[in-house]
Amino acid sequence: MLNGKTAVVTGGSRGIGAAIAYKLASMGADVAVIYAGNRDAAESVCEKCKEDFGVKARSYVCDVADFTAVKDTAAKIKEDFGALHILVNNAGVTRDGLAAMMKEEDFDRVVDTNLKGAFNMIRHCIPLFLRSREGCIINISSVSGLIGNAGQCNYSASKAGLIGLTKSVAKEYAAKGIRCNAIAPGFIRTDMTEAHSDNPLLAMIPLGRMGEAEEVADAAAYLAEARYVTGEVLRVDGGIAM
Ligand code: NAI
Repeated sequence: MLNGKTAVVTGGSRGIGAAIAYKLASMGADVAVIYAGNRDAAESVCEKCKEDFGVKARSYVCDVADFTAVKDTAAKIKEDFGALHILVNNAGVTRDGLAAMMKEEDFDRVVDTNLKGAFNMIRHCIPLFLRSREGCIINISSVSGLIGNAGQCNYSASKAGLIGLTKSVAKEYAAKGIRCNAIAPGFIRTDMTEAHSDNPLLAMIPLGRMGEAEEVADAAAYLAEARYVTGEVLRVDGGIAM
């Protein structure tokens, strides 16, 4: 159980992030939900966590790609919750296109959000973990980062980069009691994949169906408590990338 722990979840207003925030709250953690724009959705996730599990929950608007905004938000979370123990870097975007046609801004936006955003959060949360003498970082990568995906060179690069970031941070901070792991989801049913429901790759999933956000949240719950696991990349993909 995670009673007495505080977790911050980026992109926690919907989809996989909302499911992770709710799951960690169900285990007793207080939750700080970071969202990009949809205040009502973020607030409703917090209300549900409070009502259903009696934990403390607050939402914070913050563009994770913005180094200074993340610094300020981490400071606010410390002020509001006192301590931090778990960070879930879930915020992510796609701007798909073939490499030769991709706009520079689409490459930058995806890498800035998915990869630099995770770095920004780690950079400003590690001092709080050091103060707590423990920390658990969970980076939401993707099977695209493991095996690539045509039309997603920006996204795949950002998600592969997240795996390198995960392993380096795991090595740097293991001695301080901070673990860092990644989850590589496959096709999960959320707003992000709505447009992909007829993707031919779906027929190649050995378990024969898309995954649910709650199934990724279950993996996050496992990693939050797996005290002897660090630097791991856990696929939650129905077997598509094995
Ligand atoms: P989603 O689009 O439903 O949710 C993404 C969340 O990130 C939203 O709450 C959005 O507001 C937030 N966000 C986006 N840019 C942000 C920024 N700059 N600052 C703060 N928050 C920001 O997507 P979904 O499907 O829930 O994905 C969550 C994570 O899981 C993403 O990192 C995605 O790449 C990853 N993933 C999703 C898969 C899927 O099949 N749905 C498969 C593999 C990985």
